[in-house]
Amino acid sequence: MATVEVARPNEGVDNLMLGYSDLRSLQTRRPLVIARGDGIRVIDENGKSYIESCASFFNASFGYSEHELAEAAYEQFKLMPLYSSASHRTVDVVLRLTEMLTARLPLPDAHISYCCSGTEANDYAVKFMRYRNVYEGKAAKRKVISRQNSYHGSTVVDSSLGGAKGLHDSFALDMADYRFVTQPDYFNNRLEGESEAEFVARLAKELEDVIQEAGPETIGMFFAEPICFSSGLTPPPDGYWPAMKAVLDRYDILHMDDEVITGFGRTGDWTAVDNTLGFKPDLMTLAKGISASYFPFAVTVISDPVYQGMLKGNDIQHGFHHAGTLHGHPVGAAIVIRVIELMEERKVLEHVREMIPVLHKGIHAWRGHEAIADTRAVGLAGAIQLDPAAFGPKGEENRGQMGQRLLECCMERGLIVRPRADSVIIGPPLIAGAADYEEIFALLALGMKDLQEEMRRA
Ligand SMILES: Cc1ncc(COP(=O)(O)O)c(C=O)c1O
Repeated sequence: MATVEVARPNEGVDNLMLGYSDLRSLQTRRPLVIARGDGIRVIDENGKSYIESCASFFNASFGYSEHELAEAAYEQFKLMPLYSSASHRTVDVVLRLTEMLTARLPLPDAHISYCCSGTEANDYAVKFMRYRNVYEGKAAKRKVISRQNSYHGSTVVDSSLGGAKGLHDSFALDMADYRFVTQPDYFNNRLEGESEAEFVARLAKELEDVIQEAGPETIGMFFAEPICFSSGLTPPPDGYWPAMKAVLDRYDILHMDDEVITGFGRTGDWTAVDNTLGFKPDLMTLAKGISASYFPFAVTVISDPVYQGMLKGNDIQHGFHHAGTLHGHPVGAAIVIRVIELMEERKVLEHVREMIPVLHKGIHAWRGHEAIADTRAVGLAGAIQLDPAAFGPKGEENRGQMGQRLLECCMERGLIVRPRADSVIIGPPLIAGAADYEEIFALLALGMKDLQEEMRRA
Protein backbone atom coordinates (compact mmCIF):
# COMPACT_ATOMS: atom_id res chain seq x y z
CA MET A 1 0.00 0.00 0.00
CA ALA A 2 1.36 3.45 -0.89
CA THR A 3 2.23 5.59 2.10
CA VAL A 4 0.17 8.75 2.43
CA GLU A 5 1.63 11.94 3.82
CA VAL A 6 -0.79 13.43 6.33
CA ALA A 7 -1.20 17.19 6.01
CA ARG A 8 -1.06 19.47 9.08
CA PRO A 9 -4.51 19.95 10.70
CA ASN A 10 -5.80 22.85 8.65
CA GLU A 11 -3.07 23.26 6.07
CA GLY A 12 -4.50 24.46 2.76
CA VAL A 13 -8.03 24.70 4.11
CA ASP A 14 -8.20 28.29 5.39
CA ASN A 15 -8.12 29.76 1.90
CA LEU A 16 -10.13 27.07 0.18
CA MET A 17 -13.63 27.79 -1.10
CA LEU A 18 -15.42 24.47 -1.35
CA GLY A 19 -18.75 24.37 -3.17
CA TYR A 20 -21.94 23.14 -1.48
CA SER A 21 -20.11 23.35 1.84
CA ASP A 22 -20.48 25.64 4.82
CA LEU A 23 -17.66 28.15 4.33
CA ARG A 24 -17.60 28.87 8.08
CA SER A 25 -17.37 25.20 9.05
CA LEU A 26 -14.37 24.90 6.74
CA GLN A 27 -12.50 27.26 9.05
CA THR A 28 -12.99 24.99 12.04
CA ARG A 29 -13.58 21.47 10.72
CA ARG A 30 -11.27 19.79 8.27
CA PRO A 31 -13.14 18.40 5.23
CA LEU A 32 -12.71 14.79 4.18
CA VAL A 33 -9.42 14.81 2.31
CA ILE A 34 -8.96 11.96 -0.17
CA ALA A 35 -5.45 10.78 -0.90
CA ARG A 36 -5.97 7.98 -3.40
CA GLY A 37 -8.44 5.67 -5.11
CA ASP A 38 -8.80 1.92 -5.32
CA GLY A 39 -11.57 0.54 -7.56
CA ILE A 40 -14.90 1.84 -6.21
CA ARG A 41 -13.21 2.95 -2.97
CA VAL A 42 -11.46 6.15 -1.96
CA ILE A 43 -8.89 6.32 0.83
CA ASP A 44 -8.54 9.43 2.95
CA GLU A 45 -5.39 11.12 4.25
CA ASN A 46 -5.52 8.98 7.41
CA GLY A 47 -5.79 5.71 5.52
CA LYS A 48 -9.54 5.19 6.14
CA SER A 49 -11.34 3.58 3.19
CA TYR A 50 -14.84 4.50 1.95
CA ILE A 51 -17.02 2.94 -0.72
CA GLU A 52 -18.14 5.82 -2.96
CA SER A 53 -21.61 4.42 -3.48
CA CYS A 54 -22.63 7.37 -5.62
CA ALA A 55 -19.51 7.32 -7.80
CA SER A 56 -18.70 10.83 -6.47
CA PHE A 57 -21.46 12.75 -8.31
CA PHE A 58 -22.59 9.76 -10.47
CA ASN A 59 -19.48 10.37 -12.55
CA ALA A 60 -16.72 7.91 -11.57
CA SER A 61 -18.10 5.23 -13.87
CA PHE A 62 -14.83 3.27 -13.99
CA GLY A 63 -13.98 3.92 -10.34
CA TYR A 64 -10.83 5.60 -9.11
CA SER A 65 -7.91 3.48 -10.33
CA GLU A 66 -8.42 2.55 -13.99
CA HIS A 67 -4.87 2.47 -15.30
CA GLU A 68 -5.96 1.94 -18.91
CA LEU A 69 -7.39 5.47 -18.87
CA ALA A 70 -4.25 6.85 -17.23
CA GLU A 71 -2.18 5.13 -19.94
CA ALA A 72 -4.36 6.57 -22.73
CA ALA A 73 -3.87 10.03 -21.23
CA TYR A 74 -0.10 9.58 -20.88
CA GLU A 75 0.28 8.36 -24.46
CA GLN A 76 -1.64 11.39 -25.74
CA PHE A 77 0.28 13.76 -23.45
CA LYS A 78 3.51 12.51 -25.05
CA LEU A 79 2.20 12.77 -28.60
CA MET A 80 0.23 16.02 -28.56
CA PRO A 81 -0.57 17.35 -25.09
CA LEU A 82 -2.78 20.27 -26.07
CA TYR A 83 -4.29 22.00 -29.03
CA SER A 84 -7.15 24.44 -29.38
CA SER A 85 -9.74 23.03 -31.75
CA ALA A 86 -11.12 26.10 -33.59
CA SER A 87 -10.33 28.45 -36.48
CA HIS A 88 -10.49 25.63 -39.04
CA ARG A 89 -7.89 23.61 -37.11
CA THR A 90 -8.34 20.49 -34.97
CA VAL A 91 -6.58 17.25 -33.98
CA ASP A 92 -6.90 13.71 -35.26
CA VAL A 93 -8.22 12.28 -31.97
CA VAL A 94 -11.14 14.73 -32.02
CA LEU A 95 -12.11 13.57 -35.51
CA ARG A 96 -11.83 9.93 -34.47
CA LEU A 97 -13.92 10.56 -31.37
CA THR A 98 -16.60 12.46 -33.31
CA GLU A 99 -16.99 9.48 -35.61
CA MET A 100 -17.21 7.09 -32.65
CA LEU A 101 -19.78 9.23 -30.80
CA THR A 102 -22.08 9.84 -33.75
CA ALA A 103 -22.15 6.09 -34.42
CA ARG A 104 -23.33 5.42 -30.86
CA LEU A 105 -25.67 8.30 -30.06
CA PRO A 106 -29.37 8.04 -30.88
CA LEU A 107 -29.78 11.26 -32.91
CA PRO A 108 -29.40 10.53 -36.62
CA ASP A 109 -26.74 12.66 -38.32
CA ALA A 110 -26.01 14.44 -35.04
CA HIS A 111 -23.51 17.30 -34.79
CA ILE A 112 -21.16 17.43 -31.84
CA SER A 113 -19.84 20.51 -30.04
CA TYR A 114 -17.11 19.90 -27.44
CA CYS A 115 -16.57 21.60 -24.09
CA CYS A 116 -15.30 20.86 -20.60
CA SER A 117 -18.25 20.30 -18.22
CA GLY A 118 -21.94 19.51 -18.04
CA THR A 119 -22.50 23.10 -16.99
CA GLU A 120 -20.88 24.44 -20.14
CA ALA A 121 -22.65 21.91 -22.38
CA ASN A 122 -26.04 22.97 -20.98
CA ASP A 123 -25.26 26.67 -21.22
CA TYR A 124 -24.33 26.15 -24.87
CA ALA A 125 -27.54 24.23 -25.54
CA VAL A 126 -29.48 27.38 -24.59
CA LYS A 127 -27.09 29.51 -26.63
CA PHE A 128 -27.47 27.26 -29.69
CA MET A 129 -31.28 27.26 -29.37
CA ARG A 130 -31.27 31.06 -29.41
CA TYR A 131 -28.82 31.17 -32.33
CA ARG A 132 -30.99 28.80 -34.35
CA ASN A 133 -34.21 30.62 -33.49
CA VAL A 134 -32.83 34.06 -34.30
CA TYR A 135 -31.81 32.94 -37.79
CA GLU A 136 -34.97 30.88 -38.31
CA GLY A 137 -36.89 34.16 -37.90
CA LYS A 138 -38.21 33.34 -34.40
CA ALA A 139 -35.99 35.60 -32.29
CA ALA A 140 -38.63 36.01 -29.57
CA LYS A 141 -38.53 32.26 -28.93
CA ARG A 142 -35.71 32.40 -26.34
CA LYS A 143 -37.29 31.47 -23.00
CA VAL A 144 -36.69 28.08 -21.41
CA ILE A 145 -39.06 25.94 -19.39
CA SER A 146 -37.51 23.54 -16.91
CA ARG A 147 -38.66 21.72 -13.81
CA GLN A 148 -38.73 22.76 -10.17
CA ASN A 149 -36.24 21.06 -7.93
CA SER A 150 -33.80 20.23 -10.73
CA TYR A 151 -30.14 21.09 -11.36
CA HIS A 152 -28.46 21.76 -14.68
CA GLY A 153 -25.15 23.43 -13.76
CA SER A 154 -23.51 26.42 -12.14
CA THR A 155 -23.22 29.28 -14.66
CA VAL A 156 -25.68 32.19 -14.63
CA VAL A 157 -27.83 30.53 -17.31
CA ASP A 158 -27.74 27.03 -15.81
CA SER A 159 -28.36 28.23 -12.26
CA SER A 160 -31.36 30.17 -13.58
CA LEU A 161 -32.84 27.22 -15.43
CA GLY A 162 -32.15 24.80 -12.58
CA GLY A 163 -35.28 24.69 -10.48
CA ALA A 164 -33.77 25.73 -7.16
CA LYS A 165 -35.19 28.97 -5.78
CA GLY A 166 -32.35 29.11 -3.26
CA LEU A 167 -29.85 29.42 -6.11
CA HIS A 168 -31.92 32.05 -7.93
CA ASP A 169 -32.09 34.15 -4.75
CA SER A 170 -28.48 33.52 -3.70
CA PHE A 171 -27.01 34.88 -6.89
CA ALA A 172 -29.66 37.49 -7.71
CA LEU A 173 -30.22 35.85 -11.07
CA ASP A 174 -32.20 37.45 -13.86
CA MET A 175 -35.18 35.11 -14.16
CA ALA A 176 -37.08 36.85 -16.98
CA ASP A 177 -36.34 34.09 -19.52
CA TYR A 178 -37.08 31.09 -17.31
CA ARG A 179 -40.32 29.33 -16.41
CA PHE A 180 -40.85 26.24 -14.26
CA VAL A 181 -43.21 23.30 -14.09
CA THR A 182 -43.73 20.57 -11.51
CA GLN A 183 -41.25 17.73 -11.19
CA PRO A 184 -42.90 14.40 -12.13
CA ASP A 185 -42.27 13.07 -8.64
CA TYR A 186 -45.50 11.20 -8.07
CA PHE A 187 -44.80 10.20 -4.47
CA ASN A 188 -44.03 13.71 -3.24
CA ASN A 189 -46.04 15.91 -5.66
CA ARG A 190 -49.35 14.06 -6.19
CA LEU A 191 -52.57 15.49 -4.85
CA GLU A 192 -54.60 13.49 -2.36
CA GLY A 193 -56.31 10.59 -4.10
CA GLU A 194 -54.74 11.44 -7.49
CA SER A 195 -53.92 8.44 -9.71
CA GLU A 196 -50.70 8.32 -11.76
CA ALA A 197 -52.68 8.92 -14.96
CA GLU A 198 -54.41 11.96 -13.42
CA PHE A 199 -51.05 13.24 -12.16
CA VAL A 200 -49.57 12.98 -15.68
CA ALA A 201 -52.59 14.73 -17.23
CA ARG A 202 -52.32 17.54 -14.64
CA LEU A 203 -48.61 18.04 -15.39
CA ALA A 204 -49.20 18.16 -19.17
CA LYS A 205 -51.95 20.73 -18.63
CA GLU A 206 -49.68 22.74 -16.35
CA LEU A 207 -47.02 22.80 -19.12
CA GLU A 208 -49.59 24.06 -21.60
CA ASP A 209 -50.83 26.71 -19.13
CA VAL A 210 -47.27 27.94 -18.52
CA ILE A 211 -46.66 28.18 -22.28
CA GLN A 212 -49.92 30.06 -22.79
CA GLU A 213 -49.23 32.42 -19.91
CA ALA A 214 -45.70 33.27 -21.14
CA GLY A 215 -46.82 33.43 -24.77
CA PRO A 216 -46.06 30.45 -27.06
CA GLU A 217 -44.11 32.74 -29.39
CA THR A 218 -41.57 33.32 -26.57
CA ILE A 219 -40.81 29.74 -25.48
CA GLY A 220 -37.84 28.17 -27.28
CA MET A 221 -36.98 25.09 -25.28
CA PHE A 222 -38.03 22.54 -22.68
CA PHE A 223 -34.98 21.49 -20.64
CA ALA A 224 -35.05 18.30 -18.56
CA GLU A 225 -33.26 15.14 -17.51
CA PRO A 226 -34.99 12.05 -18.93
CA ILE A 227 -35.08 10.67 -15.39
CA CYS A 228 -34.49 13.41 -12.87
CA PHE A 229 -31.51 12.43 -10.75
CA SER A 230 -30.83 15.95 -9.51
CA SER A 231 -34.23 16.14 -7.75
CA GLY A 232 -33.43 13.10 -5.62
CA LEU A 233 -34.04 10.39 -8.23
CA THR A 234 -37.63 10.78 -9.36
CA PRO A 235 -38.49 8.51 -12.29
CA PRO A 236 -41.52 9.89 -14.16
CA PRO A 237 -44.70 7.82 -14.21
CA ASP A 238 -45.63 5.92 -17.38
CA GLY A 239 -47.12 8.21 -19.98
CA TYR A 240 -45.35 11.34 -18.72
CA TRP A 241 -43.00 11.81 -21.69
CA PRO A 242 -45.54 11.18 -24.49
CA ALA A 243 -47.95 13.62 -22.80
CA MET A 244 -45.26 16.31 -22.43
CA LYS A 245 -43.93 15.75 -25.95
CA ALA A 246 -47.42 16.21 -27.44
CA VAL A 247 -47.62 19.66 -25.82
CA LEU A 248 -44.11 20.65 -26.93
CA ASP A 249 -44.86 19.65 -30.51
CA ARG A 250 -48.06 21.67 -30.51
CA TYR A 251 -46.09 24.85 -29.77
CA ASP A 252 -42.89 24.20 -31.80
CA ILE A 253 -40.71 23.98 -28.69
CA LEU A 254 -37.32 22.23 -28.82
CA HIS A 255 -36.70 19.43 -26.37
CA MET A 256 -33.29 19.48 -24.70
CA ASP A 257 -32.36 16.20 -23.00
CA ASP A 258 -29.82 16.61 -20.17
CA GLU A 259 -28.02 13.26 -20.07
CA VAL A 260 -25.13 14.55 -17.99
CA ILE A 261 -25.86 11.84 -15.40
CA THR A 262 -27.91 9.29 -17.34
CA GLY A 263 -25.62 9.19 -20.39
CA PHE A 264 -22.80 6.72 -20.91
CA GLY A 265 -24.17 3.69 -19.15
CA ARG A 266 -26.25 4.66 -16.11
CA THR A 267 -29.42 3.14 -17.59
CA GLY A 268 -27.66 0.21 -19.30
CA ASP A 269 -27.43 2.01 -22.65
CA TRP A 270 -25.33 4.80 -24.13
CA THR A 271 -28.17 7.22 -23.33
CA ALA A 272 -31.58 6.97 -21.68
CA VAL A 273 -33.35 8.22 -24.82
CA ASP A 274 -34.63 4.95 -26.23
CA ASN A 275 -35.64 3.22 -23.03
CA THR A 276 -37.05 6.29 -21.29
CA LEU A 277 -38.31 9.02 -23.59
CA GLY A 278 -39.62 6.93 -26.45
CA PHE A 279 -38.75 9.72 -28.90
CA LYS A 280 -35.64 11.60 -30.07
CA PRO A 281 -34.83 14.93 -28.46
CA ASP A 282 -33.65 17.96 -30.47
CA LEU A 283 -30.52 18.52 -28.40
CA MET A 284 -28.70 16.44 -25.82
CA THR A 285 -25.82 17.01 -23.41
CA LEU A 286 -23.35 14.47 -22.04
CA ALA A 287 -20.57 14.90 -19.45
CA LYS A 288 -19.49 13.05 -16.28
CA GLY A 289 -19.36 9.41 -17.50
CA ILE A 290 -18.26 10.31 -21.03
CA SER A 291 -14.64 10.49 -19.86
CA ALA A 292 -15.35 8.52 -16.67
CA SER A 293 -14.40 11.96 -15.30
CA TYR A 294 -10.68 11.24 -15.78
CA PHE A 295 -10.64 14.55 -17.67
CA PRO A 296 -12.99 17.58 -17.78
CA PHE A 297 -14.88 16.76 -20.95
CA ALA A 298 -18.46 17.20 -22.24
CA VAL A 299 -20.50 17.53 -25.41
CA THR A 300 -23.60 19.27 -26.70
CA VAL A 301 -25.24 17.08 -29.33
CA ILE A 302 -27.35 18.87 -31.92
CA SER A 303 -29.91 17.17 -34.15
CA ASP A 304 -29.66 17.82 -37.87
CA PRO A 305 -32.82 20.00 -38.17
CA VAL A 306 -31.52 22.32 -35.42
CA TYR A 307 -28.09 22.34 -37.05
CA GLN A 308 -29.63 23.33 -40.38
CA GLY A 309 -31.11 26.41 -38.67
CA MET A 310 -27.71 27.21 -37.16
CA LEU A 311 -26.14 27.04 -40.61
CA LYS A 312 -28.32 29.99 -41.62
CA GLY A 313 -26.75 32.03 -38.81
CA ASN A 314 -23.31 30.87 -39.87
CA ASP A 315 -23.92 32.07 -43.43
CA ILE A 316 -25.21 35.48 -42.38
CA GLN A 317 -22.50 35.99 -39.72
CA HIS A 318 -19.69 34.61 -41.94
CA GLY A 319 -18.84 31.83 -39.52
CA PHE A 320 -19.86 30.28 -36.22
CA HIS A 321 -18.62 32.59 -33.47
CA HIS A 322 -18.35 30.13 -30.64
CA ALA A 323 -15.29 28.29 -29.24
CA GLY A 324 -13.24 27.68 -26.11
CA THR A 325 -9.47 27.39 -25.73
CA LEU A 326 -9.76 23.97 -24.11
CA HIS A 327 -12.74 22.63 -26.07
CA GLY A 328 -12.03 19.27 -27.72
CA HIS A 329 -8.83 18.85 -25.69
CA PRO A 330 -6.75 16.05 -27.27
CA VAL A 331 -6.01 14.33 -23.95
CA GLY A 332 -9.70 14.38 -23.02
CA ALA A 333 -10.60 13.05 -26.47
CA ALA A 334 -8.05 10.21 -26.16
CA ILE A 335 -9.51 9.27 -22.78
CA VAL A 336 -13.10 9.25 -24.10
CA ILE A 337 -12.02 7.04 -27.01
CA ARG A 338 -10.49 4.61 -24.48
CA VAL A 339 -13.66 4.77 -22.32
CA ILE A 340 -15.76 3.76 -25.33
CA GLU A 341 -13.32 0.97 -26.24
CA LEU A 342 -13.25 -0.35 -22.66
CA MET A 343 -17.04 -0.22 -22.41
CA GLU A 344 -17.24 -2.41 -25.49
CA GLU A 345 -14.26 -4.70 -24.79
CA ARG A 346 -15.44 -5.37 -21.24
CA LYS A 347 -19.17 -5.40 -22.06
CA VAL A 348 -19.84 -2.74 -19.42
CA LEU A 349 -23.38 -1.98 -20.65
CA GLU A 350 -24.26 -5.68 -20.39
CA HIS A 351 -22.75 -5.76 -16.88
CA VAL A 352 -24.85 -2.73 -15.88
CA ARG A 353 -27.99 -4.45 -17.15
CA GLU A 354 -27.11 -7.44 -14.95
CA MET A 355 -26.49 -5.25 -11.90
CA ILE A 356 -29.65 -3.13 -12.24
CA PRO A 357 -31.93 -5.82 -10.73
CA VAL A 358 -29.39 -6.47 -7.96
CA LEU A 359 -29.42 -2.81 -7.01
CA HIS A 360 -33.21 -2.52 -7.28
CA LYS A 361 -33.70 -5.57 -5.05
CA GLY A 362 -31.39 -4.08 -2.42
CA ILE A 363 -33.23 -0.75 -2.51
CA HIS A 364 -36.76 -2.15 -2.44
CA ALA A 365 -35.83 -4.47 0.42
CA TRP A 366 -36.13 -1.31 2.55
CA ARG A 367 -39.88 -1.10 1.83
CA GLY A 368 -41.79 -1.72 5.04
CA HIS A 369 -38.83 -0.69 7.25
CA GLU A 370 -40.21 1.39 10.14
CA ALA A 371 -38.05 4.44 9.23
CA ILE A 372 -38.63 4.44 5.46
CA ALA A 373 -41.35 6.43 3.68
CA ASP A 374 -40.55 5.50 0.06
CA THR A 375 -38.07 3.61 -2.09
CA ARG A 376 -37.27 4.44 -5.73
CA ALA A 377 -34.97 2.74 -8.21
CA VAL A 378 -34.30 3.31 -11.87
CA GLY A 379 -31.36 2.30 -14.03
CA LEU A 380 -28.26 1.83 -11.93
CA ALA A 381 -29.45 4.07 -9.10
CA GLY A 382 -31.81 3.93 -6.19
CA ALA A 383 -33.04 6.06 -3.32
CA ILE A 384 -34.54 5.43 0.07
CA GLN A 385 -36.60 8.25 1.55
CA LEU A 386 -36.59 8.44 5.34
CA ASP A 387 -39.69 9.26 7.34
CA PRO A 388 -38.60 11.95 9.85
CA ALA A 389 -41.65 11.24 12.04
CA ALA A 390 -40.36 7.71 12.63
CA PHE A 391 -37.31 9.16 14.41
CA GLY A 392 -39.31 11.03 17.08
CA PRO A 393 -38.80 14.72 17.99
CA LYS A 394 -35.20 14.71 16.76
CA GLY A 395 -36.40 13.46 13.38
CA GLU A 396 -38.99 16.25 13.13
CA GLU A 397 -36.28 18.78 14.01
CA ASN A 398 -34.20 17.42 11.12
CA ARG A 399 -37.03 17.22 8.55
CA GLY A 400 -35.56 17.99 5.11
CA GLN A 401 -32.07 17.07 6.41
CA MET A 402 -32.48 13.39 7.22
CA GLY A 403 -30.44 12.37 4.16
CA GLN A 404 -27.50 14.39 5.45
CA ARG A 405 -27.87 12.87 8.95
CA LEU A 406 -27.81 9.35 7.47
CA LEU A 407 -24.78 10.20 5.32
CA GLU A 408 -22.88 11.24 8.46
CA CYS A 409 -23.63 7.90 10.12
CA CYS A 410 -22.77 5.93 6.97
CA MET A 411 -19.44 7.73 6.64
CA GLU A 412 -18.44 6.55 10.12
CA ARG A 413 -19.01 3.05 8.76
CA GLY A 414 -16.99 3.67 5.58
CA LEU A 415 -19.80 4.36 3.11
CA ILE A 416 -20.47 7.57 1.19
CA VAL A 417 -24.06 8.00 -0.03
CA ARG A 418 -25.67 11.03 -1.69
CA PRO A 419 -28.10 12.96 0.51
CA ARG A 420 -31.04 14.86 -0.98
CA ALA A 421 -33.57 16.27 1.49
CA ASP A 422 -34.89 13.25 3.44
CA SER A 423 -33.55 10.73 0.90
CA VAL A 424 -30.19 9.14 0.29
CA ILE A 425 -29.25 7.95 -3.17
CA ILE A 426 -26.83 5.33 -4.34
CA GLY A 427 -25.57 5.04 -7.92
CA PRO A 428 -22.20 3.29 -7.78
CA PRO A 429 -19.50 3.18 -10.45
CA LEU A 430 -20.72 1.08 -13.39
CA ILE A 431 -18.00 -1.46 -12.64
CA ALA A 432 -19.37 -2.38 -9.17
CA GLY A 433 -20.12 -6.10 -8.87
CA ALA A 434 -22.62 -8.18 -6.86
CA ALA A 435 -20.27 -8.46 -3.84
CA ASP A 436 -19.90 -4.67 -3.79
CA TYR A 437 -23.68 -4.24 -3.66
CA GLU A 438 -23.88 -6.67 -0.75
CA GLU A 439 -21.31 -4.62 1.13
CA ILE A 440 -23.00 -1.30 0.27
CA PHE A 441 -26.39 -2.44 1.59
CA ALA A 442 -24.84 -4.00 4.71
CA LEU A 443 -23.05 -0.72 5.52
CA LEU A 444 -26.21 1.27 4.77
CA ALA A 445 -28.14 -0.91 7.25
CA LEU A 446 -25.47 -0.30 9.90
CA GLY A 447 -25.57 3.46 9.22
CA MET A 448 -29.37 3.45 9.57
CA LYS A 449 -29.18 1.55 12.89
CA ASP A 450 -26.64 4.06 14.20
CA LEU A 451 -28.87 6.98 13.14
CA GLN A 452 -31.92 5.47 14.84
CA GLU A 453 -29.95 4.93 18.06
CA GLU A 454 -28.43 8.39 17.94
CA MET A 455 -31.81 10.07 17.50
CA ARG A 456 -33.44 7.93 20.16
CA ARG A 457 -30.68 8.91 22.63
CA ALA A 458 -30.91 12.64 21.84
C1 LIG B 1 -28.34 16.78 -14.41
C2 LIG B 1 -27.10 17.61 -14.37
N1 LIG B 1 -26.84 18.46 -15.38
C3 LIG B 1 -25.72 19.21 -15.40
C4 LIG B 1 -24.82 19.18 -14.36
C5 LIG B 1 -23.60 20.03 -14.39
O1 LIG B 1 -22.51 19.26 -14.73
P1 LIG B 1 -21.03 19.67 -14.26
O2 LIG B 1 -20.99 19.53 -12.78
O3 LIG B 1 -20.15 18.73 -15.02
O4 LIG B 1 -20.81 21.07 -14.68
C6 LIG B 1 -25.05 18.31 -13.29
C7 LIG B 1 -24.07 18.22 -12.19
O5 LIG B 1 -24.23 17.54 -11.22
C8 LIG B 1 -26.22 17.52 -13.29
O6 LIG B 1 -26.50 16.70 -12.27
